[in-house]
Order: sequence, then structure tokens, then C-alpha cells
Amino acid sequence: MVVNLSEHLANVSPLAMQRPETCGRRASLETQGPVKTKSVLLIVGGGIAAYKSLELVRLLVRAGIGVRAILTEAGAQFVTPLSLSALSGQPVYQALFDLTDEAEMGHIQLSRSADLVVVAPATADLMAKAAHGLAPDLATTALLATDKTVLMAPAMNVRMWQHPATQRNLATLTADGVRFVGPDEGAMACGEFGPGRMAEPEAILAAILAELEAPAAHRPLAGTRVLVTAGPTHEPIDPVRYIANRSSGKQGYALAAALAGLGAEVTLVSGPTALPAPAGVRRLSVETARQMLDAARATLPVDAAVMVAAVADWRPAAAAPRKVKKGEGAAPPPLTLEENPDILATLARSGPDRPRLVVGFAAETNDVISHAVGKRARKGCDWIVANDVSGDVMGGDANAVSLVTADGVETWPSLPKDEVARRLALRIAEALVGPLSGTAESL
Ligand code: CTP
Repeated sequence: MVVNLSEHLANVSPLAMQRPETCGRRASLETQGPVKTKSVLLIVGGGIAAYKSLELVRLLVRAGIGVRAILTEAGAQFVTPLSLSALSGQPVYQALFDLTDEAEMGHIQLSRSADLVVVAPATADLMAKAAHGLAPDLATTALLATDKTVLMAPAMNVRMWQHPATQRNLATLTADGVRFVGPDEGAMACGEFGPGRMAEPEAILAAILAELEAPAAHRPLAGTRVLVTAGPTHEPIDPVRYIANRSSGKQGYALAAALAGLGAEVTLVSGPTALPAPAGVRRLSVETARQMLDAARATLPVDAAVMVAAVADWRPAAAAPRKVKKGEGAAPPPLTLEENPDILATLARSGPDRPRLVVGFAAETNDVISHAVGKRARKGCDWIVANDVSGDVMGGDANAVSLVTADGVETWPSLPKDEVARRLALRIAEALVGPLSGTAESL
């Protein structure tokens, strides 16, 4: 699902747009007339990223979406209930046994009063409690009692995110149907670098809009698991140099987003790119082809695997442990290459873990179709999406592809990468679950 944020905001009723952004009152949200307002229950956990949740509330209210907030005890160390209620125009709920709140609205009712439950920031602790069904406070009780979809925006230190316990909890929550947006990679408040930063408020808003606008009937891939690889790989020569290619990752990221929009549980194994993780997609970041193979294998079993990554065919046979220096008048150092494993061919090999559908991409500069047909046979995959990369496809926003299957070759016109992704995601959905009715128009 591709959510056009500016389009959505443009479509928001003028009434909603005129709503005061601060010092809102309950009445301002309740005087909307016949327009059915969507609402979210926002759980703000304890982390430095909680300040971004204030901006998220502002964006939600501006988009005409009602917000009730639960602020955890730890969350209240970072933002105040007053700022949350001022921005949302609603009371903020904090304590499970707050009698006033119980009299007005029980915690069970609170957990079901909204169309969607959003946890931002979702700390390691909140994720762990939710994964294990623990309910020691109002936030976790609401998560256990709700009958609505839960969307989490994780935020934590990189090592906490990568810890096997957190990754186990992530897998459990994903299997339970919890949706995720982020985390992003980058410099963190604790001074470390890597995945763990909470997604930006705009990305969380886009994920919320996607959830609110996609009824279950339009999620034909719900319950399926899909692996997508994307981006280039970097093959180190020494600690400062590497071999790479021009892949931007845009096509693979767009496909991961489109598949997630159809309800699939998508794992995106990505080489280095500048792109944020698409909403609702679990991203595993790698650098080299061998890391990409390991990460891809670790996601098995999956229903479908789509290898969009531009994997380096070769790597330096031995990466130097220290920076290679120029010798005075010396000849350039030789670069001996070794072949990388073929991830697509490995996953396409028959065996108990072979995905039901294995799709490869073929980037070619000449004889596109004949190379793609040969590649499909050689690698043992079901489909090849062939693209002509002789122009500015790599890094650009448009792509002209041909779909090569056992039934023949289908050539699509040049389309934006998002549209190629949308069409391909629908074809994948049809291959996995059968003919779709009414989805193509609404995706
Ligand atoms: N691929 C892969 N692992 C590799 C090389 C390629 O998984 N080591 C996958 C790509 O993700 C893509 C498909 O194989 O889905 C074809 O990639 P491409 O670079 O076009 O083909 P190569 O196998 O590298 O062959 P050549 O470079 O000779 O065209």
C-alpha cells in the first residue's frame, strides 16, 4: 500500500484542518458533524523518542484523526501529561486504578474505543511485556484487552534492539498480528549508531493511515510471510574501501511496502541504502553478500522470496585488516576476487524450506529477455522480472520490466517504481492465494 500523505492531507475535511493545534478541548473533537472520525489510542512509552510522539499527536489531529493517549510511568519522565492532553484535546490516561478514569471509561472500553492502538515509542520493556501477555499497568493491560490492530514504533538502543530476546519478542508479536513501523538506522541519543531510532512522526502517520484505510478484505496476503532482498552489497577491500554497485534499493523497498500493504508479514533484507524502512516491514540491514545470504536463510520458512537486491557477484578474496597504503613508486596492489554465493539460486533449490514462489530480478543492459529466460532456468526460480538498466534505472524512479514465467514473457510499459511494485505485489498475491476480487483498484 502506497500512502500518499500529501494527498491524504489535502483530502482532510476543512473542519479538521481548522482545528486548533494546541489548547484543544474535548468539544473541538466532538463537533465534527456527520463525518466519521477515525481515532487511535496512542500509548507513549518511556524513551527519549517520546518527544517525537508529541509531533505525532499534532500530525494526527491535523489529519482529522482523534487521539486518546495512555502515558506510561516511564513515559511521563520524558513528556508531560499536560502537553499530550493539550495537543490531543483529550484527557490523558496514566494509572490502571485511577477511579475517576474508571468511572468515566473502564480500561477495557478504553482499549477498544479507538480504531487502532499505536505504541510510540515501543520500548524493549513494553515489547517484552506485550509479547508475554504481562499486564502490570494500564498500557500493557490495554494491549492485552484490545480487539483492535496494534501498531508499534520501536525505539531503543541498538544493542537492545539486536538482542536475541528483543528479536524473539518481535517475532512473537509479529506472529500475533502486531504491525511495526521502523525502527530506523542512525545516530542515537546514547551516542551509538545503528537500528533502534524511532521512525519519524511522518512515517508513523503514514503507517497509521495505511492501517486505518485498509480494511481486512483488502489484505489478501494476511497470514503469509514474504522475504524481499534489496539494495546493493558492499564487499570490503580494507576497512575504508569496498566494491559496490549503483543500486538505490528503491524498487525492492517499494515492493516490500506494497506486499506489506496487502497484509503480508514482510522481512526486508537490505544492503546499505539511504532509505527509511517502509511502514509495517521488518528490516534486517546487512553489508555483504554472505551476510545477506545468512539473513535471508534465517527468515525461512517463507511463502514467497523476491530477490531484488543487486548482489555483488565477486568479493575481494581477502579483505585487508588495515588500510592498504600506497608505497612510494610501488605498483598498485593486485585485487584478487572470489565468487559470492548466489542467494537466489540457493533459496530456489528444492528442499523442505523452498518458498512456494521464488522471484528473481535480472538487471541487463542488452539482450534483456534472452538473458532473463536463461537466468530463470539457470537459477531455478519461478519468475524473473527482467529490467533494462542501460538507461538511468539504477537510482531513478521509473522502471520498464518484463515478467518472465513458465507461461511466457509479459512486457509492462515504463512505470514509476511504486507502480511496478504494486502490480508485482498483486501478481504475487494471486500466485499465493488465488484470484483477487476488488483488490486491484483499492490497493
Ligand atoms: N542474485 C543473488 N545472489 C547473487 C547474484 C544475484 O541472489 N550472488 C540475484 C539477484 O538478486 C537477482 C538475480 O539473482 O534477483 C539476478 O541478478 P543479476 O545481477 O542480474 O544476475 P547475475 O546472477 O549476477 O548474473 P550476471 O551478472 O552475469 O548477469
